[in-house]
Amino acid sequence: TDKYAVFGNPIAQSKSPFIHAEFAKQTQQDLSYEAILAPVDKFDSYLTTFFADGGQGANVTAPFKEQAFAMCDELSDMAKQAGAVNTLFNLPNGKIGGDNTDGIGLVNDLEMLFGSLKGKRVLLVGAGGAARGCILPILEHNVAQLVICNRTHEKAEQLQKLFNEYGNFFAKPIEDLISPFDLVINSTSAGLSGQLIALPSVIVDETTDCYDMTYSQQTTVFNQWAQNQHARKTADGLGMLVGQAAKSFSLWRGVTPDTASVIRQLRGLMT
Ligand code: ATR
Repeated sequence: TDKYAVFGNPIAQSKSPFIHAEFAKQTQQDLSYEAILAPVDKFDSYLTTFFADGGQGANVTAPFKEQAFAMCDELSDMAKQAGAVNTLFNLPNGKIGGDNTDGIGLVNDLEMLFGSLKGKRVLLVGAGGAARGCILPILEHNVAQLVICNRTHEKAEQLQKLFNEYGNFFAKPIEDLISPFDLVINSTSAGLSGQLIALPSVIVDETTDCYDMTYSQQTTVFNQWAQNQHARKTADGLGMLVGQAAKSFSLWRGVTPDTASVIRQLRGLMT
């Protein structure tokens, strides 16, 4: 049995063990996948021990994605551009390899829910770690434009500098947003504490799809706001969670699991 795990702090809430167990069942892979609570100052030694004890691969969640990035001997382009790692490999030479599947998980879910991203005007709200990992995957899908806005505008401008060579990508102050987008993505953590980000209502009309990277049993604060502006469709980030897991699983095992059935199961468990 090959050993995998997810590291985080906190980790008790993690749905990854369930998701990977379902993927393993579906694809008949013989593997175990556990959740490991690493002390905030000991991620490094916990991970090293896990790999020394025969662990094949691992996922990393908050707050360790940047630390994982710093520990890797080899990094995929996606991980380099995200500046964060959520998927680790125990390489045969004892080295650690890192990738980031969050952006692909998001983009796959967006296209499954709302159709092709090609030609769309997209607004990304927030400029933290979650936003950064998604910029390139979105630009790679040939959107007409990707605008980023953030409470602290300077952080959006920094990301513009990093990524504007890859496509039509620019930062705008929130107060300069004066027309509707085809798609608005919330990457901020505001909703996790029940807060609503202050956004002008003109950015959403009845043609706009809205996506909240966080997820919850009830409609998220951001999606409730979007529905009040008569958004065309809204969705939360449960599909992104399953999508990033699916990409990790396929990188480790060489088989691609079906995400839709697992998303349905998780949604059922949440209600
Ligand atoms: P993550 O890795 O989840 O992106 P992060 O790097 O701490 O976490 O980024 C959090 C993001 O949520 C930031 O864009 C932050 O805005 P600031 O850069 O201005 O701090 C945003 N955010 C958090 N709470 C918010 C709130 N109440 N209103 C608006 N934006 C908020």
